[in-house]
Amino acid sequence: MKTILVTGGSGFIGSNFIQYLFKKNEEIFIVNLDYLTYAGNPENLKPIESNKKYKFIQGDICNQELVEFLFNEYNFDSVINFAAESHVDRSIHNPNIFIKTNVMGTATLLNVAKRFWKNNYKNKKFLQISTDEVYGTLPENDKNVKFTEQTKLQPHSPYSASKTSADCIVQSYFDTFKFPILITRCSNNYGPYQFPEKLIPLIIHNALNNKPLPIYGDGKQVRDWLYVEDHCDAIWTVMNKGNIGEVYNIGGNNEIQNIEIVKQILDYLEKSHSLITYVKDRLGHDRRYAIDASKIKKELDWSPKYKFEDMIGETINWYLDNSNWVKNVISGDYLKWIDTNYK
Ligand code: NAD
Ligand code: TYD
Repeated sequence: MKTILVTGGSGFIGSNFIQYLFKKNEEIFIVNLDYLTYAGNPENLKPIESNKKYKFIQGDICNQELVEFLFNEYNFDSVINFAAESHVDRSIHNPNIFIKTNVMGTATLLNVAKRFWKNNYKNKKFLQISTDEVYGTLPENDKNVKFTEQTKLQPHSPYSASKTSADCIVQSYFDTFKFPILITRCSNNYGPYQFPEKLIPLIIHNALNNKPLPIYGDGKQVRDWLYVEDHCDAIWTVMNKGNIGEVYNIGGNNEIQNIEIVKQILDYLEKSHSLITYVKDRLGHDRRYAIDASKIKKELDWSPKYKFEDMIGETINWYLDNSNWVKNVISGDYLKWIDTNYK
């Protein structure tokens, strides 16, 4: 049985990924190393908490001693690095923690894995969960232009710059050492267990509580939305079939303006559009993201299964059914953050 170190497995995508693997009944042992920052929540993995093929460790990916201890203890075959500070707005207010976790944390994992795998890289894999935000922004009006894996990396926010640094360092370990890396760059995800600071869960939460819905700038920014389970499936496809050293874009071919999503959510919940409140634009706000995912389709035969029209309703229903989950993750820190953000 293979043993995988999954970092950041208690966050939004990581916990969906671990649940996805257990649903598939894969013959693997998973160690989830998560620091449990405000975004990490052990509740997300309650159903598999006591499974014999799962072990949770609370800790920081920047802690070299701990990572070495875990490599000694579990002799990992692979690493999938989800752990990160992930919210653009927070990175504008406090870039340093992004640089520490996203850059130094990734470097720590790489260095320890490299040392433990001792140049014997057969059947070893290090998968870096990167993001489409490394590419920067696209022209608004030319729908034919999308991010390909060859698009120049041109990040704008401290978040995307830190993810780009990590992405480049991971790539450099292949170029320099033939260290067995894979990189995925995915578009915006939505689905259950997403922290209600990101657009979709924030709008659902505020609409349900009849609170104003903050729309940055003119609300016509475009994102390419992908249901989180599709992302998980793509990651597992890349892990199993991807060519070492390669980057794979993952996307939903589903470009939507922010304001359109907000209106759809309001209509689904039968709430008034008067809750929409235009606020000051985000600094350095990227206008449009769109992914050309033809490489993963052509080479690995992967494409998304879910449709936005179906899964946005499922997602809203999940938040309606899990109001306790939302209540638990909304701490004083969150409320303070949202208050500052509004003004
Ligand atoms: P998230 O913020 O929901 O979860 C991040 C997790 O990492 C949390 O559980 C947190 O506790 C953990 N973590 C943070 N710092 C840590 C540290 N120093 N050591 C160990 N654990 C730490 O983020 P997410 O949305 O699930 O994103 C996961 C990954 O996917 C990130 O690398 C992100 O850049 C990438 N990504 C996200 C999206 C998206 O739409 N959410 C899209 C593309 C790529
Ligand atoms: P977000 O969910 O933060 O993801 P990202 O910045 O990584 O794409 O934001 C998605 C889009 O929604 C982005 O264009 C910013 C916008 N947005 C708002 O207009 N209001 C909000 O309150 C938030 C959180 C985001």
